[in-house]
Amino acid sequence: MTHLIAPSILSADFANLLPACELINNSQADYYHIDVMDGVFVPNISFGLPIISAIKKHAKKTFDVHLMIVEPDKYIKDFKSAGADILTVHYEACTHLHRTIQAIKAEGMKAGVALNPHTPIHLLEDIIQDIDLVCLMSVNPGFGGQSFIENTYDKVKALKALITKKNSSALIEIDGGVSNQNAAKLVECGADVLVAGSYVFGSDNPEKTIKGLKDLKF
Ligand code: DX5
Ligand code: ZN
Repeated sequence: MTHLIAPSILSADFANLLPACELINNSQADYYHIDVMDGVFVPNISFGLPIISAIKKHAKKTFDVHLMIVEPDKYIKDFKSAGADILTVHYEACTHLHRTIQAIKAEGMKAGVALNPHTPIHLLEDIIQDIDLVCLMSVNPGFGGQSFIENTYDKVKALKALITKKNSSALIEIDGGVSNQNAAKLVECGADVLVAGSYVFGSDNPEKTIKGLKDLKF
């Protein structure tokens, strides 16, 4: 499988989201990456359900929703209604992760689990078979535009080995500080999905930047 590109709406112009939708629809992007922050799990608040429903009306690609919130179980049905195709919860926010994953799947969504930079891969050993996507945070979650943490390469390799060992079909997604500086190496280490916010929306030609990430030619 060739790797997938997921531009993050967090770096788009919130007062003018329609052009961002058209850009993603017309580009080689595979997913919309949608970051939900509650001001409790992370020290920032982004946007919530009404905005996601509004974007969904114009979106022609998979909705990859990344919940950086406490008690995600409370909102699983709501995010399904708002249009999520993949719903990712944080390992650190879930006391009963197995139950949460089953609840996401019961709603007909793919289940993702995100790991903060300090959370080791081996903690997924007894759950990896049930997960559709693992989101490795390559920055501390909460803000776009931060610097990529280099230890991520080793985590991608360790996760890839675990997935192979356990015969899991989980995709490996990298989130935070992704750019032309690290994309090729990440894919080489085993990454399947690259999230990119500021690198895409902060560039002069976001469509071309997405193509560059897809082709890994810079
Ligand atoms: C950070 C978010 C990311 C963010 C990435 O907490 O989860 O998805 O949008 O932004 P960049 O690519 O600018 O690091
Ligand atoms: Zn994210």
